[in-house]
Amino acid sequence: MAEMTVNLAGVSLANPVVLAAGTCGYVREMADALPLGRLGAITTKSITAESREGNAPWRIIDSPAGMLNAIGLANVGIERFMQEKLPDARGLPCKLFGSVAGHSVDEYLAVASKFDRAPEIAAVELNVSCPNTSDGLQFGEHPEALRALLREVKPAVRTKPLFVKLSPNVGDIVAMAKAAIDGGAQALVVANTFSAMAIDVDTRAPRLSRGRGGLSGPGIHPIVVRMIHDVYHRVARDAKVPVIGLGGVSNWRDAAEFILAGASAVAMGTALFIDPRAPLRVVDGLSKWVDKQGCRSVAELVGAVKDGARAG
Ligand SMILES: Cc1cc2nc3c(=O)[nH]c(=O)nc-3n(C[C@H](O)[C@H](O)[C@H](O)COP(=O)(O)O)c2cc1C
Repeated sequence: MAEMTVNLAGVSLANPVVLAAGTCGYVREMADALPLGRLGAITTKSITAESREGNAPWRIIDSPAGMLNAIGLANVGIERFMQEKLPDARGLPCKLFGSVAGHSVDEYLAVASKFDRAPEIAAVELNVSCPNTSDGLQFGEHPEALRALLREVKPAVRTKPLFVKLSPNVGDIVAMAKAAIDGGAQALVVANTFSAMAIDVDTRAPRLSRGRGGLSGPGIHPIVVRMIHDVYHRVARDAKVPVIGLGGVSNWRDAAEFILAGASAVAMGTALFIDPRAPLRVVDGLSKWVDKQGCRSVAELVGAVKDGARAG
């Protein structure tokens, strides 16, 4: 049997399959649908300093190759999360990553420093796909803004690794990956949703209440394969910073592509809405694939795409 454990900046996962932020609840909501002990890790939905109602409906709609969402970071806020949700993580049979969002450096700091002190959380993941209300710029779309955020947040995350989840809505994702690594990111999640819009042609109104949202699901998968490939070969491999691939994975073949492109672990989001047990088949399929490839460990296949040297 292939060795499926992976090491993400010192956090050991039983296998490379992770549930993505915002698609699996706070902590244990998916336990009714699948045995959480079969997963590598779960990511909390993004938590903000204050509670948020999120956007009005519609905030999730279908799309031919996935879905669009503009949830607006609906969550109970850090205080209630710590009191009411985090206790569910005691005895969790897989790792828990705590996702942090904010609209100012101080908001990120407030949540990240609480997560840093929570023993149930194995790593702190920054969702940087949020605008900074002070200048309107998205932290994850401007290298300088990301560097400035990390200068403040990195020192507050002392006891566990800091992961940065990159936005794909940039011209040069490698430049953003570099900024994240310079700022102290110990793993990169590639990537968040793609900025998108849908219009109802009868009413002529945008279908999402907020007008625009983020596209996820199978339609984005090949773009994310390319992004992982570029980030891994041009910066992450040499910096020894692992990549978690995320975007449109529905089955083990999609996950295997991410691994060959350079991902050490693979997260799943939209697929859970179609079949919450899909991650179990991905875990099993990956294990058989590693055996068939004649490898002892899944780690041997990270970045092993044959044309890997021709990055970018
Ligand atoms: C309904 C929904 C809610 C999401 N909420 C969050 C969130 O709170 N924080 C975050 O970092 N990403 C969030 N995401 C983005 C996912 O974690 C993931 O990056 C994206 O959906 C691409 O992966 P997928 O194609 O496997 O869904 C959300 C996605 C969806 C579909």
